Amino acid sequence: MCNMDLNEETLKNKLAGKLIGHKVYYFSEIDSTNDEAFELAAAGSPEGTVVIANSQTKGKGRLQREWHSPSGSNIYTSIILRPDLKPENAPQISILAGVAVAEIIDNFCPDMINLKWPNDVLLQGKKVCGILAQMKTSASRVDFIILGIGINVNIDYNQMPQDIKNTATSLAIETGRKISRQELIIGLYENMAKWYKKLMEGGFSAVKEKWLSMAPMIGQRVQIMSGNEVVSGKALGIDEQGSLLLLTAENRRIKISAGDATILKETQNNVAGN
Ligand code: BTN
Repeated sequence: MCNMDLNEETLKNKLAGKLIGHKVYYFSEIDSTNDEAFELAAAGSPEGTVVIANSQTKGKGRLQREWHSPSGSNIYTSIILRPDLKPENAPQISILAGVAVAEIIDNFCPDMINLKWPNDVLLQGKKVCGILAQMKTSASRVDFIILGIGINVNIDYNQMPQDIKNTATSLAIETGRKISRQELIIGLYENMAKWYKKLMEGGFSAVKEKWLSMAPMIGQRVQIMSGNEVVSGKALGIDEQGSLLLLTAENRRIKISAGDATILKETQNNVAGN
């Protein structure tokens, strides 16, 4: 069993004094680490406070979806950040989170990771991590952001719900070995702090450049589902607000701020007579 690998005391000792993780709230079971972190932040908990759970009963995904959160195998964590940003630039933080997670997972399974807009981390083309950022604003500044991160670490294929079996994976499934959640989560906070400092001190360009280098969908034809709307076009990149820039078939450049992306397979046009 791998549920012993998340140990509250060891986590607290190893994270003492760190920018992210200096204050740890650990739960063996919780409804949602994002809800807990949101309440803590609203009550004044400082930047860098983290909530970690061994399982969630109401794990929340993007676009009102559920996040499957069984005990003993995965990472469920939420980080409180208080960046000095205008609300319209807050998506920079969730782009940054994708970069930080992808880079740290790459240490465990090199050359198998990439990113899909806005912040899905894919392992061998299947989703291994989801990120849900929620924020509170006041007086046209960000008050706080809750960065919720779910990573499929040691979950087996058999434990996955039917509806995600074709699209999701875990580190253990792809590498054939169990990974220490403790080691991964400590590395994750460290790497998140590194990228957060870069963003706060140097602006978005380094984060954006790294994101682009890990996102093979850029340059490809993609389809974005946003609510009931579907748009497709060539993905050109992302802007300063983390929006996806698309070139439509009508040669219009458009920006999309939220949605689900799929890379479209090019249809093969046979040469006449072949
Ligand atoms: C997605 O749909 O891609 C985002 C999933 C985010 C899941 C994480 S697990 C920890 C945190 N707590 C939640 O309730 N959700 C996020």
